[in-house]
Amino acid sequence: MSKVNLVTGMRPTGKLHLGHYKGVIENLVKLQDEFNCFYFVADWHALTTKFDKTETLKDDKFNVIIDWLASGVDPEKATIYIQSQIPEIAQMHVLLSMITPNNWAERDPTLKDMVKIIRSGDENIQMSYGLLGYPVLMSADIMTFNAAVVPVGIDQVAHLEITRDIARRFNNLYKTELFNEPKPRLTQVSLLKGVDGQKMGKSFHNDIKISDDEKTTSEKIMKGITDRSRLRKNDPGHPDDCEVIFDYYKVFADEETVNCTRQECVAGTRGCADCKRQIAKIINEAFGSVREKRIQYVQNPKIVQDIIMNGCEKARPIARETLAKAYDVMNLS
Ligand code: TRP
Repeated sequence: MSKVNLVTGMRPTGKLHLGHYKGVIENLVKLQDEFNCFYFVADWHALTTKFDKTETLKDDKFNVIIDWLASGVDPEKATIYIQSQIPEIAQMHVLLSMITPNNWAERDPTLKDMVKIIRSGDENIQMSYGLLGYPVLMSADIMTFNAAVVPVGIDQVAHLEITRDIARRFNNLYKTELFNEPKPRLTQVSLLKGVDGQKMGKSFHNDIKISDDEKTTSEKIMKGITDRSRLRKNDPGHPDDCEVIFDYYKVFADEETVNCTRQECVAGTRGCADCKRQIAKIINEAFGSVREKRIQYVQNPKIVQDIIMNGCEKARPIARETLAKAYDVMNLS
């Protein structure tokens, strides 16, 4: 039996961090065995808010893809491509835009939040035609490959609701069963905190990148917040109040190490600096081979370009076929 199609995209935000790794990338690696996976970089979606800042776009896309590849996303299993290189998605977007009532997009709560964030920033950016179409473009991403399953974070579920509505409306209007109504598959939100205790994020300057070398990683971790009430090394510590570092243990260390660390902390026989050094070592070891692979890709960009080109070539005929079917039922062909 052929596998079910799964589509998911990521906006090109540049180098990814350990929160992305735990929340999203591990999931991508797991899903590629279960589904017929289409993973793409959503560079058109990036333009919905950053149309005036495209200087780093090329590098950002490249970095997202090499983080995926180095982390184990396998181009033999998943089809990896760049949204803007598949013109059929744009064509599908035009068709879907015709059948989507404005107010479906206007009442999308996630879109409203995006607009609020933009308005609160320095720039006085108006809601563009493209940004209003964000959920429609996302629907085109999904429907062009007729995905049944879409792994997304909870904030993206509202967009996906619109996709389901659009798919249903299309099927009803043109008396067809062409499109699936795709289901979200919730990506576990990574609870990984940044070294300062806030949510890990590039804009908070508290993230540890997948691409950081050992020294940088260790330096960042040494700044990590621990138990604020613990003043001296020999004071008994409170692992459950250790804001960042003990959390990292729970995510990255094995159970025995976690238990032993807890005991020594509570007994006051191990200081916070020791813990930081140990967890830095554990994280560095865990990401050693990922980083090595990543460096290989950085040094051989041609390999990455070929992977992307092959992915696009694999994606296009599938996109073309769905589009042709849509043209057909709409009497455009
Ligand atoms: N909007 C998604 C995000 O910001 C990215 C995205 C674009 C996407 N198109 C998609 C995700 C299609 C899943 C399916 O995370």
